[in-house]
Amino acid sequence: MKKLTLNGTHTPSEIYIGRGVLDTVQARCAEVFSPSRVHIVTDSNVAPLYLARVQAQFDVPVSVTIIPAGEEHKRLSTVEQIYHDLLTAGMTRKDLIIALGGGVTGDLTGFAAATFLRGVSLCQIPTTLLAQVDSSVGGKTGVDLPEGKNLVGAFYQPRLVLIDPDVLDTLPDPTLIDGMAEVIKYGYIADASILELVPDYRSHLEALIYACVKIKCEVVSQDEHDTGLRMILNFGHTIGHAAEKLGNYIDLTHGQAVAIGMVAAMKLSNAMGAPTDLVPALITQLEQVGLPTELTYDRERIFQTLLSDKKKFGATVNFILVRTAGTAEIVPIEAETLHTFILDL
Ligand code: GLY
Repeated sequence: MKKLTLNGTHTPSEIYIGRGVLDTVQARCAEVFSPSRVHIVTDSNVAPLYLARVQAQFDVPVSVTIIPAGEEHKRLSTVEQIYHDLLTAGMTRKDLIIALGGGVTGDLTGFAAATFLRGVSLCQIPTTLLAQVDSSVGGKTGVDLPEGKNLVGAFYQPRLVLIDPDVLDTLPDPTLIDGMAEVIKYGYIADASILELVPDYRSHLEALIYACVKIKCEVVSQDEHDTGLRMILNFGHTIGHAAEKLGNYIDLTHGQAVAIGMVAAMKLSNAMGAPTDLVPALITQLEQVGLPTELTYDRERIFQTLLSDKKKFGATVNFILVRTAGTAEIVPIEAETLHTFILDL
């Protein structure tokens, strides 16, 4: 069992990573919280697998919301349903909300916890690789609007994050592979030794999760509110998000879009003077895990979509470049320079 601490502006997040952590939820919670009640939010995929195992550990009343699985339910009406369930259960600000599930469950539940009665304590128990290495850590919570993803949200740190790699055994293979895009991202932005474990990643999941979460803790501890350093976590996401949007969030999963976006960002890093060409190695690693590398959308539409996402930056776009494996840079690039580059991709 390994422990990491994320020092946020208000309270630290304690993060435990290890096989079997799922059977210590009550004990870990008792070290941090003193709730009279617990409310667990989970989804229709995860509930049959792990809900009873977590629920049975508590000797205080436990209420539950089971949301339908799927990104299309990451919306305000689902949060409203959670608020109603919290009220029906008699939850107060001294009680505890647990998010048990993947990124959608974590983001939604985090937002409900941040806003219900102006803030109730939160424990995240992520059950997908993507949620374990990225979304459950760092306090980004939120919901989608019809106009776009994650447009409403709050920074709200979970006091406790419990990561059990054993739960990945029940994950559908494409969902596990999706999370590997974020793992490879951490290798390029901060710790190239992660990349050595990629070819045999299934044998090294616990070590990979620990390495990625350690980086996330270091980055978020320095820039919790995403005004500087935290932007490096978006390597591959600028063009990736544009591709994801053009595919209506159906043709490409998030991990697939990030994989394609990282290859494009690496080509831009070359164009901006990288000393060695890292593109071939990146493509090999992505292909080894089964992720796509080719951008198949019209380049002009990619640029226009990217620009509409980045309007707030004015004439330049803050782009994350990796010119040396293990080091990311935030480089403002003129929109027109980026336009030319994307048309040539
Ligand atoms: N997923 C990127 C971040 O937490 O900032």
